[in-house]
Amino acid sequence: MSYKFDPRNQHISIFIKDQLYPKSEARISVYDSAVQCGDSVWEGVRVYNGKIFFFWQHVDRLLESAKTMAYTDIPSREFIRDAMFKTLEANGMKDGVHIRLTLTRGEKIISGMDPRLNQKGSCLIVLAEWKPPVYDNENGIELITSHIRRNSPQYMDSKIHHNNLINNILAKIQANLFEADDAIMLDSNGFVAETNATNIFMVKNNELYTPTTDACLPGITRSIVIMLSKVLNISCYERNISLSEFYNADEVFTCGTMGEITKVNSIDGRIIDNRNKSNVTAKIYERFRELTRREGEPLNF
Ligand SMILES: Cc1ncc(COP(=O)(O)O)c(C=O)c1O
Repeated sequence: MSYKFDPRNQHISIFIKDQLYPKSEARISVYDSAVQCGDSVWEGVRVYNGKIFFFWQHVDRLLESAKTMAYTDIPSREFIRDAMFKTLEANGMKDGVHIRLTLTRGEKIISGMDPRLNQKGSCLIVLAEWKPPVYDNENGIELITSHIRRNSPQYMDSKIHHNNLINNILAKIQANLFEADDAIMLDSNGFVAETNATNIFMVKNNELYTPTTDACLPGITRSIVIMLSKVLNISCYERNISLSEFYNADEVFTCGTMGEITKVNSIDGRIIDNRNKSNVTAKIYERFRELTRREGEPLNF
C-alpha cells in the first residue's frame, strides 16, 4: 500500500457543518457524537476527470445510513452537493482526488450516548484530498485471513456505512503484523465476507463470484463490477463462498472507491494460480478505467 504524503494536501480547505476552514483550523468539538461514541456515517468518494464518480449513489447511501441511524437533522441532497462542490472549487481539485464525506449526529449538550443530547443539528464534513488509489494495482496485493469476524446482521447491519470500524481496524492490525496488504474477514458462518476495507471477487473458469451482502458493505464499486460483468457477458454469481474456493480460484481481486480494482496474488500464503489463464480482472479493470473517464456529476468550475 502506498501512503506517500502529497505536499498539496498541506494547505487544503475542509468543509465543516456550514463553512470552509483551512486545514490548520479544521476542528470538530469534543462533544461531537463522532468523538463521543463513533456515532457518524460516511462515504469515500472519488473525483476523476472533472466529475464526481457515481456521486448520487454515494449521497443516497450516506442518507440511507443516516436514516437508519435515526438522525433527525439530515441535510438535503442539494446541500451535500453544494458543500462538496464548494470544497473542491476552493481547493482547485478536479482529478486524482478522494473525498471522505462524513455526517455526524452533531454536538451534544453534555457528554453521553443518548441521541437526545444532540440538540445542535448534524455536522457534515467534506475532507477532499489529493490521493491516488492506495493499492499497487500493477503488481497486486497479498491478503491474510483475520480471526476477527465481519459483523453478522444479528449484531450490526453491514448496510449501515458507519464509523464504528473497530472490527475492521483489528483485522487490519493483524494484516500489518503479517506484512500483508489487507485482511479477509469471514462472516459468522465462516464464509468470506470482504476485506477490512474492500469487497472481494473471485474468478473460476471464466465466471465471477462474490459473497452476498449479508455481512459486507454493498459497495458501489462492487455494484459497478457486477454491472460491467453484464456488459462483458461474464456470468456473475453472488453466493456464500469458502476460503478454500478463494485459495483455488483462477483470479481474485478486491474492489472499492479507495483502491479501485486490485489483483490479489496470495491469500494466507496460498498463491492464486491462474491455471485457466483467464483475464477477467484485466477486462473488468479496463472497462472500469474507461467508466472513470466519462461517468459522474460534472463540476461547474
Ligand atoms: C468495509 C468496506 N467494504 C467495502 C468498501 C467499498 O465500498 P465502495 O465500493 O462503495 O467504496 C468500503 C468502502 O468504504 C468499506 O469500508
